[in-house]
Amino acid sequence: MNSIKENAAVADESKFKYERILTGDRPTGPLHLGHYVGSLKNRVRLQDKYETFILIADIQALTTNFEHPERLKENIFLVALDYLACGINPDLSTIIIQSMIPEIAELTAFFSMLVSVNPLRHNPTIKTEAKERGYKELTYGFLGYPVSQTADIAIFKADLIPVGIDQLPHIELARKIVRKFNELYNCNLIKPFALIDKFSKLVGLDGNLKMSKSYGNAINLSDNFDLIKTKIRSALTDENRIHPTDKGNPEICTIYSYHNAFSNENLIRETEYDCKNGKIGCVKCKENLFKIIKELLEPMNERRSYYLNKKDEVWDILFTGTKKAGLIASDTLKEAKESMKISYSFS
Ligand code: TRP
Repeated sequence: MNSIKENAAVADESKFKYERILTGDRPTGPLHLGHYVGSLKNRVRLQDKYETFILIADIQALTTNFEHPERLKENIFLVALDYLACGINPDLSTIIIQSMIPEIAELTAFFSMLVSVNPLRHNPTIKTEAKERGYKELTYGFLGYPVSQTADIAIFKADLIPVGIDQLPHIELARKIVRKFNELYNCNLIKPFALIDKFSKLVGLDGNLKMSKSYGNAINLSDNFDLIKTKIRSALTDENRIHPTDKGNPEICTIYSYHNAFSNENLIRETEYDCKNGKIGCVKCKENLFKIIKELLEPMNERRSYYLNKKDEVWDILFTGTKKAGLIASDTLKEAKESMKISYSFS
């Protein structure tokens, strides 16, 4: 943790005052509990404190899902629904559809001149992701997505970017690109800081280190309770534990890690003690967890059904947010082009 604190790209809320948050997600499918503990929960808390912009990064989604652009529209809607269900308040947070802001693509083109290919190739997040997806060759778009992500951030003049630790290399790159742009063209774009979510990962139901839609080991925020119960029942626990009275090791148990993320202190301690001493069986422990998750999701489901009955309202929220964000984007692009002395136009 020390090294994160010392990283110049990491925000220090106790020392500096930040104003505008930008975060985002690729709309590749429904959001899950991992997204909730890793970022959504934090965003809901932060929207009271900072001006918040949330980008539904549909173009970035194409970097890995370019074969199916026709799925984006539905996925954008589902992600928006997940946001609203979680408690993102459209009066406090501006939700933006990336592809409707062409200025981002334009700024990406200018930024792309300032980045060499090698650092992108060596970007640890790009490398991990390429490996996980089994990519042997990287497309230009995939390799360059951290550059367009820099444009996402810069175009909205955001100074605080709440992200998981895996996104830190991208924020470092964003700072480098912005610095170079400002120096070269005497411009004043804002250099962003990362606000690292402490709880940035939830393990998968199968014990895999990451809950992820592509691994099929996730509990989606939109799953119904019967399905969630079944998923929890199937989750990996301490495999050496055969009988409920066997002494267990919570440290290697998926269910215990979920208790850690979602239960209150008392239940966490009790679960740990009872498991270690063979006083609770996995079945009962899973039932306890189910109850906790149900309590968490119930109010979300209420908001979800409200908006499901008012789909137009959801699109309205998206279009209103995108329009508002578009004004900022065109201002920033104008500034950028003026500083580059390329603001010629027909007249
Ligand atoms: N790369 C981010 C992810 O995969 C999504 C994203 C796109 C983003 N644009 C952004 C995050 C700008 C923060 C800021 O989760």
